[in-house]
Amino acid sequence: MKFTFITAICALALTLGVMDARAAELDEKKAKIIWDKYCAFCHGEDAKARTTIARKVNAADLTSEKIQRKFGDNREELMEIISKGLSKRDKNIMKPLKEKLKKEEIENLALYVLKLSSKDQKKDK
Ligand code: HEC
Repeated sequence: MKFTFITAICALALTLGVMDARAAELDEKKAKIIWDKYCAFCHGEDAKARTTIARKVNAADLTSEKIQRKFGDNREELMEIISKGLSKRDKNIMKPLKEKLKKEEIENLALYVLKLSSKDQKKDK
């Protein structure tokens, strides 16, 4: 009886562990929907900041090496920026999204941005 109980706990822990790992994996489809809704307006659909508005607001090219160098695979920092927004010299550039998006959505979006700037992505092209 005791043995079964322990086995059940282990199985549960294992399942939760697997679920947790899966939650932190990029779901590109979902990320793209959020990207299009909240980010593409300024950064361009391809994130390369080549649109008229992107040039006007001077948005960052998120596929650039500069971004890769800055964030590497540091999703925490990106999540922070997405959650809190970005302002410079008292000018609001990006609105905070922590009220609009769930934490998982913010994390997923961060993973998406990291993939955009990753070198692997560039090799595919
Ligand atoms: C209102 C226009 C606008 C929107 C919308 C916008 N951005 Fe930006 N973003 C900018 C501008 C402008 C910059 C360049 C800021 C600077 O001068 O460093 C920037 C920079 C960034 C950077 C680089 C920050 C850094 O520290 O170098 C990231 C990452 C980023 N944006 C991600 C996003 C994501 C993800 C979204 C969608 C949730 C988004 N942006 C939506 C205008 C925007």
